[in-house]
Amino acid sequence: MEKTKKILLIITGGIAAYKILDLIRSFVSQNIEVKTILTKTAEEFVTPLSISSLSKNKVYRNQFDINEEAEMDHIALSRWADLILIAPATANIIENIANGSANDFINTIILASNKKIFLAPAMNVKMWENEATQINVTKLESRNFILIGPSIGQLACGEYGEGRMASINEIEFTIKNHFNKNKKLKALVTAGPTREYIDPVRYISNESSGLQGYQLAKKMNEAGIQTKLILGPSKIKVDQGIDIVRVTTANEMLDAVKENLPVDIAIFAAAVADFRTNQKDFKIKKNNDELSIKLHENKDILKFVSTHNSLRPKLVVGFAAETNDIIKFAKDKLGKKHCDWIIANDVSDKSIGFNSHNNEVSIIQKGNDIEKITKRDKAEVASILVKKILKKFSVNENKSLN
Ligand code: CTP
Repeated sequence: MEKTKKILLIITGGIAAYKILDLIRSFVSQNIEVKTILTKTAEEFVTPLSISSLSKNKVYRNQFDINEEAEMDHIALSRWADLILIAPATANIIENIANGSANDFINTIILASNKKIFLAPAMNVKMWENEATQINVTKLESRNFILIGPSIGQLACGEYGEGRMASINEIEFTIKNHFNKNKKLKALVTAGPTREYIDPVRYISNESSGLQGYQLAKKMNEAGIQTKLILGPSKIKVDQGIDIVRVTTANEMLDAVKENLPVDIAIFAAAVADFRTNQKDFKIKKNNDELSIKLHENKDILKFVSTHNSLRPKLVVGFAAETNDIIKFAKDKLGKKHCDWIIANDVSDKSIGFNSHNNEVSIIQKGNDIEKITKRDKAEVASILVKKILKKFSVNENKSLN
């Protein structure tokens, strides 16, 4: 069978390099052709022989070789690929690419490339958080490189934090979605808290960071679904490629949702404040021992959309953040809010849910079919959910890869 997709895989030096063998095996089993370039340090972690045995293809070294250049030069190699994946990507290669270096074989290929380039960074948490690396990452994102991860976890060096290479599942998912672009589908995602002002300097809000909703929008976007993220006040760092409408109050969120209908998929991950106040124009003074604030119920945005007679999306997904009787309350919400799926999460456990990088959720469908996603990085939870969404819309990944 002719191989229709071609990936140029660049492996740079990091302990995570050994995990890439599974990725190569998986790509090859899906009829994707993989050519690999190894840096000298990467060769300390994986051997060219193990890679060529799995990829059944040429493995290049990071050096100009007169014979290889005669067979396929660096320009031809960068044209040959449908996309380039660098995994693991060290701080060094990120620095080189961000600054347009042309000092070796790999850097010239990247510089000469006219294809999408994906990077899966892997490094120590302090190296990742270092301003120098973050400046490089921002440069790459602004030039349309796609970063996959890194995720948070135990690092090879023994420290804990952000810097772990994204899981092989997540890398594979992102790449396959790129091949499966389905621009026909449109989606909106609400995320983050809302803020209801009492006076010009005080407000009612909640603990939501917006990260789970953001990750969902990001993964949908990467899957080629035209996605609008309607984001409440959130401090999370966002990629430039995501189409975001920033809002503050629940009413503004409602208006932004209305403006962005119709869509095929609507996901309501925002922790919308249930009540608003009559905002005072001046700062409230403490004249009395007591202060009463009258609260008015905000419109339920999810319910407004799910019960809309003409603009109801084909798939409406709600979230149920609960501290107790999670499944029971979530099932009640599924019914009351007329959604197709509800994602139940436990917000009483500080290691998951609000303000955490991890989440553990149960997807409850109409008909009460329940699927649990055990504790993992929110990016991974998002990947699993988006995979399920694509399946519902019959975007069969494997089929369209061939
Ligand atoms: N939601 C919404 N608009 C609101 C309130 C909630 O769109 N005004 C959505 C949330 O985005 C979430 C779902 O409804 O998808 C459930 O939100 P949650 O806060 O868990 O439930 P509430 O309806 O507020 O119920 P309660 O606070 O009593 O648990």
